[in-house]
Amino acid sequence: MNNESEKPVTVRTFQKMKQNYEKITMLTAYDYSTAKYIDECGTDAILVGDSVGMTVLGYENTINVTVEDMVTFTKAVSKGVKRAMVIADLPFMSFNISKEQTALNAAKLIQAGAKAVKLEGASDFILDEVNHLVNSGINVVGHLGFTPQYINTIGGYFVQGKSYENTLKLLDLAKKLEENGAFMIVLEMVPTESAKYISENLNIPTIGIGAGKYCDGQVLVIDDILGKYWGNTPKFVKPYANIKEIIMNAVNQYNKEVKSSIFPSNENSFFLPENERGKLYSVIK
Ligand code: KIV
Repeated sequence: MNNESEKPVTVRTFQKMKQNYEKITMLTAYDYSTAKYIDECGTDAILVGDSVGMTVLGYENTINVTVEDMVTFTKAVSKGVKRAMVIADLPFMSFNISKEQTALNAAKLIQAGAKAVKLEGASDFILDEVNHLVNSGINVVGHLGFTPQYINTIGGYFVQGKSYENTLKLLDLAKKLEENGAFMIVLEMVPTESAKYISENLNIPTIGIGAGKYCDGQVLVIDDILGKYWGNTPKFVKPYANIKEIIMNAVNQYNKEVKSSIFPSNENSFFLPENERGKLYSVIK
């Protein structure tokens, strides 16, 4: 990496990347070492996503994730990152009650090391909150299209904005987020043409997940690209590794070696100095 690319990524970096048609890379992370690897690979942003609820905590969806959970994972991730922008999700109902509560919860994530927070939706209430956060010095990322925290009201995992009218509605919400100070918008499960149209009509970058190749950047869940998480794998995921197989091979081998006393070998063991060993053996005899 050259000096320029070693500098911490800021909102300005993303603005320049959009202007220069340079694609933005983003991945989720939930722990220190994974965040360190992702950062060292030059990834531009690391999202401490509330997908942690499924990938790490074993929940069915993101609804049960709390601010306290997010603070813990954000602290771990931030410690491993030097360059990428760390963005933390405001979890379910941590931002939909009052402006004051939203600001307090966002502040907890920023104090845990995030440089921005992401929130799902763009109701008038949320737009007001975005405005308040930005005016309080907190960078905000929006999230439109399929918004997992609304799974119960949406009623399933559906592609959003699947008509001309709905595309215009999405663009209108995206513009409102931009006007209220959001510096980036995640578009999830949106048709390629709709996401392209929205991206071309915004000044801020869009980051797609299941939204085609014309977004200004892409995000995926780290467990999905590593082939680790074996829940339902959505169509938009591309596994770049099969870490499940690597983990299972290693664990099977370990189990076998312990059962057959191959592990630990002498190289993995500590021994008494010779004179002490002599004394011990004489007593044992
Ligand atoms: O929580 C998450 O990981 C996310 C991404 C899927 C965008 O919000």
